[in-house]
Amino acid sequence: MFDLKPESTDVEAEVLRGLTAEPKWLPPKYFYDERGSRLFEAITALPEYYLTRTELAIFDAHMPDIARSIGPGSCLVEYGSGSSLKIRKVLEEVAPAAYVPVDISGDHLVDMAERLRSDFPALAIYPVCADFTSAFELPAVVRRMPKVGFFPGSSIGNFDPVEAQAFLGRIRNTVGEGGRLIIGVDLKKDVHVLEAAYDDAAGVTADFNLNLLRHLADVLGVELDPGRFAHRAAYNADVGAVQMFLDVAETHEVQIGDTRIRFEAGESVHTENSFKYDPDDFLALAARAGFSRVGAFTDAQGWFGVFLLEATAEA
Ligand code: AVJ
Repeated sequence: MFDLKPESTDVEAEVLRGLTAEPKWLPPKYFYDERGSRLFEAITALPEYYLTRTELAIFDAHMPDIARSIGPGSCLVEYGSGSSLKIRKVLEEVAPAAYVPVDISGDHLVDMAERLRSDFPALAIYPVCADFTSAFELPAVVRRMPKVGFFPGSSIGNFDPVEAQAFLGRIRNTVGEGGRLIIGVDLKKDVHVLEAAYDDAAGVTADFNLNLLRHLADVLGVELDPGRFAHRAAYNADVGAVQMFLDVAETHEVQIGDTRIRFEAGESVHTENSFKYDPDDFLALAARAGFSRVGAFTDAQGWFGVFLLEATAEA
């Protein structure tokens, strides 16, 4: 593993920054402790959460076309080493010479790489432990291979459009001129469909959202109590995102370090944005980041988009 030693963040400072802001917010990256990651896996199987299965169906239908357009001998760079189901489909169809998963969690990377090695013995795997939201270097061994970025799952939706453009610009620099990007993006659609995906009948997403408090209570050793909050998700058409909140059910105070935080009944803590795009708007954003459209694939209902992009000479 190539360990680029991602900076460890001061969790308490970050949490206090959000909880002393008006309105209050918390960073969505803290959803994903072990329990949160398991809950997210459960979300991807929910009837209301169409994103994962729709993207996988698009991969099934179009990955052979995408692979033909890419050709052999490339180096696949995955941003975040997530569901192995998706990456396996890409590895099988595209058959790259090298695979570089980039993830902030070294343990997770080593686990995933281990499992892939036994199933793809001919594939050179170079895991990179880094914060992929900042600039990072690829291992020297892949320097001369054509690069293909892979960023599935509509993870791009957690960035606002300004951040998303900056992030795509950094991917563009990593893959270099002529390099490619395969990216999955959730699309705008009926509000009820969008909102149900983030507020399922079984309450798994509610658990996932509330788990943020459990996780932070654990890490910080503070008395954040999920029982005093309620999950809420709503599509905000003005910003173009489904937004998740933890609504305060009863007024209470929590001591965090030297700061006493007052939670007022009726106020909300904003925990996540999931931006949704129209295909043309996403392609325009990608173009501003230095990517042009090679292919755009969707499902029969037009709910999810998979885009194959190529890095142009200059952003
Ligand atoms: C993993 C960020 C793509 O925004 O749809 C699922 C996370 N949040 N349900 C998304 C999530 C609530 C998911 N992403």
